[in-house]
Amino acid sequence: MVSTMRIGILGSGLMGGKLGTLFARAGHEVVFSYARSEQKLKMLARDAKGKAKHGTLREAVQDADAVLLAVHWSRIDDVLNQAGNLSGKVVITCCLPMNDNNTELVVAYTSSGAEELAKKILKARVVLAFNTVPSEVLFSVYEAAKRKANRPSLVYCGDDRSAKELAAGLISDVGFDPVDAGPLQIARYIEPFALLIGQLAYEGEEGPELVYHFERFGK
Ligand SMILES: NC(=O)c1ccc[n+]([C@@H]2O[C@H](COP(=O)([O-])OP(=O)(O)OC[C@H]3O[C@@H](n4cnc5c(N)ncnc54)[C@H](OP(=O)(O)O)[C@@H]3O)[C@@H](O)[C@H]2O)c1
Repeated sequence: MVSTMRIGILGSGLMGGKLGTLFARAGHEVVFSYARSEQKLKMLARDAKGKAKHGTLREAVQDADAVLLAVHWSRIDDVLNQAGNLSGKVVITCCLPMNDNNTELVVAYTSSGAEELAKKILKARVVLAFNTVPSEVLFSVYEAAKRKANRPSLVYCGDDRSAKELAAGLISDVGFDPVDAGPLQIARYIEPFALLIGQLAYEGEEGPELVYHFERFGK
């Protein structure tokens, strides 16, 4: 870990709850926000066992060096309305632009969820990351990284260099090898790839603890 950061978790469900917990265990200060019960947020903060607390969306954003946006696509506007000013903030999104039944992407080919999000928060520095990993494998990857040199890959993309560096640090902190896929527009490729991961994880016979690993063959 390079240095301690303050990270706001906007959406504390499967992804936000677990990633927030791991960020806290890696030494960062975390504020969990946005669940349907405050009790759940309280317990997440308690169980994270690091410097974690809970608060409103606005409180999670206020002093944050970065926020993780981890809600269903249909909740994005609600979150942004309550979150307050995101100007200048690093916004790491793992959200996939799925329809209400989670059966298909509602944005694809000519744009992406990440790009549409960036249009809603023009002054924020949006990075797409963590959307190509099932939540079920996150704790195992974190634990394995303490022992193994061979880390699974995790792709990310964005247009702001320092925001991407920050995101890459967090990806590394939770046990993955960050793979810079380029500008935010590459989200058009990454988001459908995330659906492939979901297909293999949830429709395959071997369970959702799935990771991927890119390598340059012969090197
Ligand atoms: N799960 C995965 O493995 C995975 C993998 C890749 C990408 N993604 C993407 O990541 C994003 C988050 O997925 P997830 O699986 O973490 O979703 P999730 O478990 O449903 O978490 C969403 C969070 O939003 C909260 N929420 C929903 N409606 C709310 C409301 N009306 N008021 C307050 N809070 C509300 C939920 O509250 P409660 O906690 O009370 O339910 C929960 O904390 C999605 O865009 C998804 O497509 C998920």
